[in-house]
Amino acid sequence: MIRDAARDFARTELLPGVIERDEQQKFPTEQIKKMGEMGFMGMMVNPAYGGGGMDTISYVLAMEEISKIDASASVCMSVNNSLVCWGLDRYGTEEQKQKYLTPLATGQIIGAFCLSEPEAGSDATMQRTTAEDKGDHYLLNGTKNWITNGNSASVYIVIAQTDPEKRHRGINAFIVEKDWEGFEVGKKEDKLGIRGSDTHSLMFTDVKVPKENRIGEDGFGFKFAMQVLSGGRIGIASQALGIASGSYELALQYSKERKSFGKPISEHQAIAFKLADMATEIEAARYLVMKAAWLKDQHKNFDRESAMAKLKASEVAMNVSVEAVQVHGGYGYVKEYHVERLMRDAKITQIYEGTSEIQKIVISRSVLKD
Ligand code: CAA
Repeated sequence: MIRDAARDFARTELLPGVIERDEQQKFPTEQIKKMGEMGFMGMMVNPAYGGGGMDTISYVLAMEEISKIDASASVCMSVNNSLVCWGLDRYGTEEQKQKYLTPLATGQIIGAFCLSEPEAGSDATMQRTTAEDKGDHYLLNGTKNWITNGNSASVYIVIAQTDPEKRHRGINAFIVEKDWEGFEVGKKEDKLGIRGSDTHSLMFTDVKVPKENRIGEDGFGFKFAMQVLSGGRIGIASQALGIASGSYELALQYSKERKSFGKPISEHQAIAFKLADMATEIEAARYLVMKAAWLKDQHKNFDRESAMAKLKASEVAMNVSVEAVQVHGGYGYVKEYHVERLMRDAKITQIYEGTSEIQKIVISRSVLKD
């Protein structure tokens, strides 16, 4: 039911205008608002805080369907659900949940997760943004880069270094509001794909953050970031799965309609075998994504499996979308047929929320412990 609702929504509300939003780098404001009303922005949040109270499997099903049509909308959905709402639901105080989680989970406002910096991407412990402890508040200074929902968000989870001597154990996570003095939204990135999403740098100059806006105990920030990213990777893996299956479905349909040498191109083995490979790889990725989601729902450790799911699904998204363009021939190279956009969108799934190389670090460290 959830999958079908997401599919219908994507076809009726996201498909119209998706090409124009990509071309014009236009954030899907109205569409995200409707996604909030449908319950897609806080799917796993406790209903007491306005969430859907659903499991991760349901979230993955919805993410796949939204991503088949509009990966710009789905990255906004993924960040809000996995990195912001899930983290607050799990680690926030009652006050933080009442104040921030309820509007975030119902989609009245959007959240952003701010870890990356100009010089701290993959090496996330090297935070240069500082949060100086001033007694009843912290003073936040620094710059964040590549922030999804950078301008459309109202609430930001910001990771910053409080005690450099303690290295990653001196890092904290804070809830920061957009209209606080000293907070500035910087340049919007002009991207290859997911062009409808708004990616910005952010600047913090002496931003006063009340102590009650710290998430968890002093020094919990890095572990908090790692935990939410582990769940976030299931969201991005399901986004990649959607990009792959959306590309495949378009290629399958086109191959049955387009004729060459007197028959549909799907009846040429060169194309039929491509479709067979695409379908097989998508199914393999789907099982990995579902396994990670299921482990999370069982409250078992899912760090290795979420990294595996993201590594595999993003590779499949890239390969399948390139092949979908090939099946379409010249038509695949123009915007009208959607597959060129899906191919551009696929690339980011191998980069954000931990590059494929970072996933291999997580997986190899885990298997070496076996
Ligand atoms: N859960 C809890 N704690 C964890 C953890 C996890 N999954 N992974 C690591 N930790 C803890 C470790 O236990 C360790 O703590 P202690 O020393 O107290 O035991 C601490 O974190 C440091 O861990 P490591 O020694 O493993 O740290 P490292 O520097 O070697 O590297 C890394 C860890 C996995 C490479 C990490 O830096 C990483 O994930 N990098 C990628 C960052 C990333 O994914 N960025 C994405 C940005 S957000 C984004 O893209 C969102 C968007 O907009 C779409």
